[in-house]
Amino acid sequence: MIIQPRTRGFICITTHPEGTAKNVHNQIEYIKSKNITGEGPKKVLVIGASTGFGLSSRISAAFGYNAATVGVFFEKPAAPNKPGTAGWYNTAAFEKEAQEAGLYAKSINGDAFSDEIKKQTIELIKKDLGQVDLVVYSLASPRRTHPKTGVVYTSVLKPIGEPFTNKTVDFHTANVTDITINPIESQEEIDNTIAVMGGEDWKFWMEDLKEAGVLAEGVKTVAYSYIGPELTHRIYKDGAIGMAKIDLENTVPVINNLLADLNGVSYVSVNKALVTQSSSAIPVVPLYVSLLYKVMKAKGIHEGTIEQMQRLFTDRLYTADGNVPLDENGRIRIDDLEMREDVQKEVDDLWKIVTTENINEISDIEGYRNEFFQLFGFNYDNIDYEADTNELVTVPSIS
Ligand code: NAD
Ligand code: NA
Repeated sequence: MIIQPRTRGFICITTHPEGTAKNVHNQIEYIKSKNITGEGPKKVLVIGASTGFGLSSRISAAFGYNAATVGVFFEKPAAPNKPGTAGWYNTAAFEKEAQEAGLYAKSINGDAFSDEIKKQTIELIKKDLGQVDLVVYSLASPRRTHPKTGVVYTSVLKPIGEPFTNKTVDFHTANVTDITINPIESQEEIDNTIAVMGGEDWKFWMEDLKEAGVLAEGVKTVAYSYIGPELTHRIYKDGAIGMAKIDLENTVPVINNLLADLNGVSYVSVNKALVTQSSSAIPVVPLYVSLLYKVMKAKGIHEGTIEQMQRLFTDRLYTADGNVPLDENGRIRIDDLEMREDVQKEVDDLWKIVTTENINEISDIEGYRNEFFQLFGFNYDNIDYEADTNELVTVPSIS
């Protein structure tokens, strides 16, 4: 079928298989170009492996360290005349390239919050790999069905306390407006957000994996967080989602305790803000990211998910001397370049003056929009988007 971008609200509802394959290929080429030689992960489970940071983690492990990877995600396969989701095509492309490179790669498509998918994953690890030595936890979801009670929790992107007013942009039209976001109405909304994006499911995974004996001696596990600048604090760090991230951080000592007899260790890595399907849904954040991209690109320090994950692996998790650099709160920081004082000062100055009239000059809104569409396989050179393409792409390990 001929597949062109179609949007509903801010999201893109079509996906191009050749373009998403190009996105995966570019990331693989980037990792290969780094010629990583040090010791690293060998057998890796990535939960949330199909897009964003999770996909880039999987690519870094596989093509940076020749690791075998099992990826878990929740995506829609392709059907006749209905493209699959980006994560489906990303995984199809990843597995194909992994196979060609002689790397083990298998995937499981289903609800990672469920006991059933945890069980299936454990069976696959037992059968094919025996144990894993790295578990990456990179889920981003608006909803979670609790596996023990069946209760469905929905997260909110809301401030706590007073209503929050700030600038925001519709990145499709580049229209800058003020937005007022009403605060949570009850503690329950915070609790629900914690139930979805906090640490409980990460802990459940680690408990089940340990219980099944599929965690190797010295196993590492990492989950991702975000802090960001003052101007997004009310909607992010100090909002309901921020409370869930505190819960995630508080899970680190719990998992460390669980892994103590294996000499295992868990980390939260604070990553930088960038364009993913999840972050484009947060008010205020896309405008901040457009300004941040402009400033970081001008300074030659721009990073996407793959650059971030490559640094996480080689400069943090698997350093030559084995030390993992942490901040005063015990977290890995790869948001160091985003949070640099000179970067934040410049973003702040631009934030004060940005309007619909000047946004195209003073921000990288065009780069934002371009990257957003590239997540869905669009806006790549050398792909003929007028041409017929085979939408019925399968993931080799999932029939
Ligand atoms: P993403 O939307 O690109 O990826 C989410 C992944 O989770 C996908 O693989 C998806 O299939 C999977 N998933 C969602 N629900 C699932 C379910 N029920 N079962 C199985 N798989 C499921 O998100 P992302 O932006 O890469 O976010 C990953 C993590 O990184 C999150 O914890 C997020 O808070 C954090 N983070 C994001 C940013 C950012 O700017 N995007 C910055 C710092 C940290
Ligand atoms: Na991810």
